Amino acid sequence: MRILSSRFHPLIFKSILLGVVLFLTASFTLDSKTKAKFVNAQQNETCFKCHGQSKYSYENPELSKTVYKRMGSNRIINRDLFYDSNHKQFKCVDCHAEEYATFPHAGELRMAEKYVCIDCHGDDPKYAKFEFEKIELEFKESVHSTKHNEDFTCWMCHDAHTYKTNARTNENIKKTVAYDNSICLTCHADVTKYQLLTDKTNPNILVKHEWLPNQALHFKNVRCIECHAKVNDTIMVAHNIRPKAEAVRICVECHTKNSMLMTSLYKFKVKEKRSQAGFFNGVILNESYVIGANRNYYLNVLSLVIFGMVIAGICVHATLRILKRNKNV
Ligand code: HEC
Ligand code: HEC
Ligand code: HEC
Ligand code: HEC
Ligand code: HEC
Ligand code: HEC
Ligand code: HEC
Repeated sequence: MRILSSRFHPLIFKSILLGVVLFLTASFTLDSKTKAKFVNAQQNETCFKCHGQSKYSYENPELSKTVYKRMGSNRIINRDLFYDSNHKQFKCVDCHAEEYATFPHAGELRMAEKYVCIDCHGDDPKYAKFEFEKIELEFKESVHSTKHNEDFTCWMCHDAHTYKTNARTNENIKKTVAYDNSICLTCHADVTKYQLLTDKTNPNILVKHEWLPNQALHFKNVRCIECHAKVNDTIMVAHNIRPKAEAVRICVECHTKNSMLMTSLYKFKVKEKRSQAGFFNGVILNESYVIGANRNYYLNVLSLVIFGMVIAGICVHATLRILKRNKNV
């Protein structure tokens, strides 16, 4: 006993105890946090163990050994992106048939019809603000839908495993631009997905927009849909992509006091004060300086005053000269 107490000084003992308690609480809260956040995480691992990376394995009973195979890149699902997406709370088998639990997957499963957005979100007051019905109507009029009918679904742009709301919630406009443009570029900068729909050659986007000065800067600051979708005031994100002949080419659509960017890209901020510190379209100014759209009211007034004074000066000068000349005669 004496040896023990001399070996374990009460202070050391207490700190070890404290350490253990802290460790247990920390790991418990961490664990319960992830569990509370993603209740289905554990069950989803039964799919992720094969679909979560580029390699998978299974037991082959005939050879009685573990076989390793490569997973096709289009069947790999990124865990981080999935658990950051709108549908992160889902089980894989909420959308996919339970039968996928067995491997090899039954052949007829791939024929099964998939849910569409409206199946779950239609006529639901909880999602009324997203206006799914209106979006559906707009999409049906778009060039993608009219040319490719049923083959072009909402899932083509809204990846089932990664889609995340940005335009409505992300305060960082540049990130929203990058996110939304990346959606279009999955096809318009990638032959494999584009060619699923058509045998046409995929036009080179960079070449097709060479007329736009400082193209890289524009693509970072405006979305494809700003120029390609018909403006619609009643929904957050316009979905009616028009044929190329109708695309915006006129600079002053944006580079002007009544910039159309206010009703598209900056829509979610429009409710805020329209002009800040005298600047027209002040909300744009927080993000970028769009020539023409960000003229300043006070500077405009000042320049008018200066202009007026110059004119007045010239008039006075001229009158004096005339008077003087009359006197001299
Ligand atoms: C042992 C590995 C393995 C497991 C576990 C696994 N899969 Fe798969 N899965 C594959 C492979 C390999 C393919 C591609 C070949 C095929 O379609 O069978 C595939 C294909 C798929 C496809 C695409 C079918 C198509 O239309 O082409 C879906 C959907 C799918 N899996 C869902 C799931 C779900 C959901 C789970 C979990 C419940 C799961 N898988 C578990 C290996 C696995
Ligand atoms: C919100 C519904 C939803 C959830 C949740 C979901 N999927 Fe999917 N998944 C789909 C849809 C829809 C498609 C078909 C996409 C298409 O046709 O473009 C798909 C396609 C797939 C494919 C085939 C990809 C291809 O291009 O062939 C695999 C594999 C897959 N899902 C696995 C999973 C796994 C694993 C999970 C869980 C981590 C999961 N899915 C969760 C809706 C979902
Ligand atoms: C199988 C049913 C189902 C399908 C199919 C589905 N969703 Fe959802 N979606 C849900 C549910 C349930 C939630 C709420 C998840 C939560 O609260 O964690 C949700 C969440 C969302 C949100 C976020 C809502 C919010 O309040 O922030 C958006 C946006 C969304 N879905 C869009 C879509 C789009 C677009 C499609 C089609 C491409 C689609 N969903 C397909 C069931 C579905
Ligand atoms: C050509 C590509 C494309 C297609 C097809 C498409 N969408 Fe979208 N959708 C987008 C983009 C881009 C956004 C903006 C995403 C963001 O930043 O939140 C978006 C946003 C949305 C939003 C969120 C709007 C908000 O108020 O926050 C909903 C809901 C939606 N889409 C539903 C649909 C439905 C339903 C369909 C099919 C009828 C569909 N989408 C087809 C590109 C597309
Ligand atoms: C500043 C406005 C503007 C922006 C931003 C813009 N485009 Fe365009 N785009 C146009 C105009 C105008 C045309 C028509 C060009 C022509 O007819 O030669 C066009 C043409 C196209 C075409 C048709 C090419 C062809 O000749 O078949 C595609 C596809 C396209 N754009 C996709 C995109 C994508 C994807 C983005 C985003 C990365 C984007 N555009 C951004 C204005 C724009
Ligand atoms: C799933 C692939 C896919 C996605 C995602 C996609 N497109 Fe397309 N897009 C196509 C295909 C295929 C065509 C060619 C249609 C045809 O002529 O058959 C096309 C055509 C176009 C055209 C040219 C229409 C014309 O007059 O020739 C424009 C503009 C366009 N897309 C803009 C966009 C924008 C903007 C986005 C993002 C919001 C987008 N696309 C997302 C596949 C896609
Ligand atoms: C869809 C809206 C839109 C259209 C259409 C548009 N622009 Fe722009 N433009 C912008 C935005 C946004 C910026 C980025 C401002 C910033 O943050 O630097 C920009 C930047 C520029 C710049 C660079 C300014 C600098 O700081 O270097 C020039 C030059 C320019 N635009 C000229 C044009 C011309 C010329 C056209 C017509 C051919 C045009 N733009 C069409 C929105 C647009």
